[in-house]
Amino acid sequence: MKTDPAYELLRLFTSPIIAVTSSWQGRANGMISDAVMRASISPNVPRLSVYIHKWHASHDMIWNSGKFGINLLHQGQLQVVHDLGFVSARERLTKLDQVRWKPGETGVPVLLDAPAAFECRVVNTMDTGYSTCFLGHVDAVYHGPKMGEVMTAPWFRANLPPEWQEAWLANYRKAQDVIEANQVPEDRRWTGPARA
Ligand SMILES: Cc1cc2nc3c(=O)[nH]c(=O)nc-3n(C[C@H](O)[C@H](O)[C@H](O)COP(=O)(O)O)c2cc1C
Repeated sequence: MKTDPAYELLRLFTSPIIAVTSSWQGRANGMISDAVMRASISPNVPRLSVYIHKWHASHDMIWNSGKFGINLLHQGQLQVVHDLGFVSARERLTKLDQVRWKPGETGVPVLLDAPAAFECRVVNTMDTGYSTCFLGHVDAVYHGPKMGEVMTAPWFRANLPPEWQEAWLANYRKAQDVIEANQVPEDRRWTGPARA
């Protein structure tokens, strides 16, 4: 991966490590992100936003279904980060089979061992060129087992098993190259779920 002093400061803005779940046409999937943000300060308008790279299988599943799940992870769930965040469903179709999950109230996959999960309905999007920022309204909340501290991005980096380091850095570098080649936003906006 590439970094410099300014990018190290930008890294201060990463969110907790979360699993983003989605389902479309009978297939369920999950990926990992540290780019989620609370998008409203009213409990009556619960909203989260997340940036998803366009080349991820999850991107099109969220775009088409108009739904996504945001699953917090705890520090005992490093293996989930590896299972969902190192390989794409484009290569391994059944990634989610490796974790315990159920369809939530809105049909979005909910990870049973997550400390909490939020089922979101897309209300708007913003194109960045390389990714889409999905603004989601939280329609349902799952309260999971209380199992230690929430996994933050700095904690993940400090506790990444050495045998995963090479793949992690290579994936990071590949993503940086695609971002640099696709930095002009497209005139593209979500207009509603696709037909199933
Ligand atoms: C710690 C960690 C953080 C990540 N953060 C992001 C992120 O913020 N945005 C993103 O689009 N991908 C992120 N990824 C990469 C995706 O999770 C990964 O490429 C995943 O395999 C995509 O899966 P899919 O193609 O099945 O959707 C992250 C991966 C890891 C391990």
